Amino acid sequence: MASGRGSNFEALVRAEKEGLLSPFQIVALVCNQPLAGARTIAKRFNIPEYIVDSNLFKHTGRFDRQSYEDELKRCLLSLKPDWICLAGYMLVLGSEIINSFPGRILNIHPSLLPNYRGLNAQKQAVLAGDKITGCSVHFVTEELDGGPIIIQKSLSILPNETPESLTQRLLPLEHQTYVEALRLVAEQLKKTI
Ligand code: GRF
Repeated sequence: MASGRGSNFEALVRAEKEGLLSPFQIVALVCNQPLAGARTIAKRFNIPEYIVDSNLFKHTGRFDRQSYEDELKRCLLSLKPDWICLAGYMLVLGSEIINSFPGRILNIHPSLLPNYRGLNAQKQAVLAGDKITGCSVHFVTEELDGGPIIIQKSLSILPNETPESLTQRLLPLEHQTYVEALRLVAEQLKKTI
């Protein structure tokens, strides 16, 4: 699931094509933003895409979260995924959806959790004067960016770093980390079958 640029989504797609994610197969992109770059990537790789446009659920400035989540849940259940990967999905996932796929939703976050949950994690790390940051892949629970961590990788923050330069430098590490996290989950699954 993605909302924007889709570079993490692309990293997963490329890894799958290279046979690195076996036995996982990417069955669909679910997107809440019709203009998301992730859609272009899905088209390029012939991955079916499903749009549940969250903008259509905003009425006079108020977001009808329940109706949006109902529609999204219908979409996700119809796809019958074993796992869901959030790859820059920029809305908080509601509890009904989380509970429909217990322990089977993953997310990538651009900080060393539990530091800097929520938005603008890279900016928060730079403003705090931290010397080190990183990214985390974790299971999604009802606590925002608070579920059990699967893997984390760290990156030094350079002198004169800006939130933009850090965001840019962190991305390749995110891509690598998400692939590694899925490989770890796959390994674990193989052991339990
Ligand atoms: C990434 O920084 C990810 O960690 C965060 O949202 C951003 C998505 O980037 N959750 P992209 O759309 O995958 O390029």
